[in-house]
Order: sequence, then C-alpha cells, then structure tokens
Amino acid sequence: MLALSPTDRLFFLTGAGVSAESGIPTFRGVNGLWRNYRIEEVASPHAWRRDPRLVWEFYSMRRRVAAPAKPNPAHFVLAKLEQKLQDRLFLCTQNVDDLHEQAGSMRVVHMHGELFKSRCDRCTRTPFHDTTTYDLPAELPRGDCGGRIRPHICWFGEMPFELDRIFRALDECTVFIAVGTSGVVEPAASFAAHVRGRARTVYVGEEEPANVSAFTECHLGRAGEVLPTLFCA
Ligand code: APR
Repeated sequence: MLALSPTDRLFFLTGAGVSAESGIPTFRGVNGLWRNYRIEEVASPHAWRRDPRLVWEFYSMRRRVAAPAKPNPAHFVLAKLEQKLQDRLFLCTQNVDDLHEQAGSMRVVHMHGELFKSRCDRCTRTPFHDTTTYDLPAELPRGDCGGRIRPHICWFGEMPFELDRIFRALDECTVFIAVGTSGVVEPAASFAAHVRGRARTVYVGEEEPANVSAFTECHLGRAGEVLPTLFCA
C-alpha cells in the first residue's frame, strides 16, 4: 500500500501500459504500433498533408481495436480513487482511448487528444464525438467550411492539449505517479523530473522506463495487478 497523508495531492500520468491488459496495443512493446507503422507516415501534420487516406486508415484501425475494449482493474482503481480524493487527484493521460471514462473517471485530461473525437483541420469548430471508421476508398469527410475532418489527436510536432492546466497541477502535487509509460515522449517524459525533490515520484509498469532516474520509487508489474495493491480505493 502506498502511504498517503490526508493532505497529499496526487498527479497520475497514464500511458499505453495502463490499457494493455484491456487488449489495446502499446506503441513500443513487442507488438507495438510503431513496429508496424512509421510515425511520420500516419501521425504527423506532414503525413496528413501527404496522405490523409493512410492517416484515416491508421486511426480507423485503432478505433476498431479500441471500440470493444473494456476497462481493466487499473482503470477502476483510478476511478474509485478519484471519488475518494476528489480534487486531490489529477488524472492526465497520454492515451486516446476512453477506458478511464468507461471505468468512471470523471475528470480525465487527454493531453494527446481522443481517438473517438474528430475535428476540422481548417476552422475552430469544437471537436466532436466520432466513431466513424473510413474504409478505403471511402470519400474522406469534409466540414461545412470545406476543411478536411481529421482525428482529434495530438500528432508528433503538434502542441499537446491543456499544458497550462497540467503544469499547474504538477506544481501543486505532492505525489506524482506514472503508470505504464516508457518515458521517451516529451513533454510527459519530463513531468517526473519537473516535480522531483518537491514531490514523491512513483513509477508503476512492467519494466523500468527510460526516465527511471527521476523516480524515487518503482513498482514493477502489470498495472492491473499492481495498482490495486498500492491504493485501497
Ligand atoms: N502494465 C503496466 N505497464 C505496461 C503494461 C502493463 N500491463 N504493458 C506494457 N507496459 C509498459 C511498457 O513496459 C512500456 O514501458 O507500458 C509502456 C508503454 O510504453 P509506450 O508503448 O511507449 O507507450 P507510451 O509511453 O504511452 O507512449 C507515449 O508516444 O507514440 C506516442 O502519443 C503516443 O501517447 C503515446 C506516447
């Protein structure tokens, strides 16, 4: 059990490892997505300009894989902990699936966007719920303004969402817990170092992350098995 004080403020950062036991592939693991797709061909503004069809093929595949997935015990622990701690818990996820929400988490900050949302690549129309999968050679969707409809995902080279809010929460937290993230993609990979020295930094995952030196403690194992032992939500 992780010892917590009644005034501790927890900042959780989750990555693909928290959804792995729900059947959603990670990016850099054995069957990781980046083993079969090149980032620059499917997850960057350049890819979108060059071949929007291939980009929609990639995100359509990810929507098909994520749609039947169900939350695992790791997601449920975080949802119950949110109920107990209320505003003393901040949940930031790099994941674009909706498993935290399905498990009952009410306040989820998706810094890399959301797989089941799309938006116009030209106007400022609010991103909208969209589960559509585009099978080739389907005509790609356009918005009313004539812009193309794109996945509401933060691509490589784009600015992640809600960074002001995230850094305010980092500066207020007393315990930072990263779960299932390899610690190689910025700015999330530097969150632990940002709070180190002022807050406890805890890692939970199957293997040591690349930024392991930023953590004061490491609990190796599957998120769905370790998180329930650390938090009696
Ligand atoms: N429980 C806990 N950790 C796990 C599990 C599990 N069941 N299975 C895998 N892991 C760990 C792996 O050891 C690895 O460290 O989860 C981590 C997954 O790392 P990545 O695949 O790199 O995923 P992530 O760190 O979330 O990637 C960050 O990179 O591609 C971009 O935008 C994408 O949000 C993503 C970002």
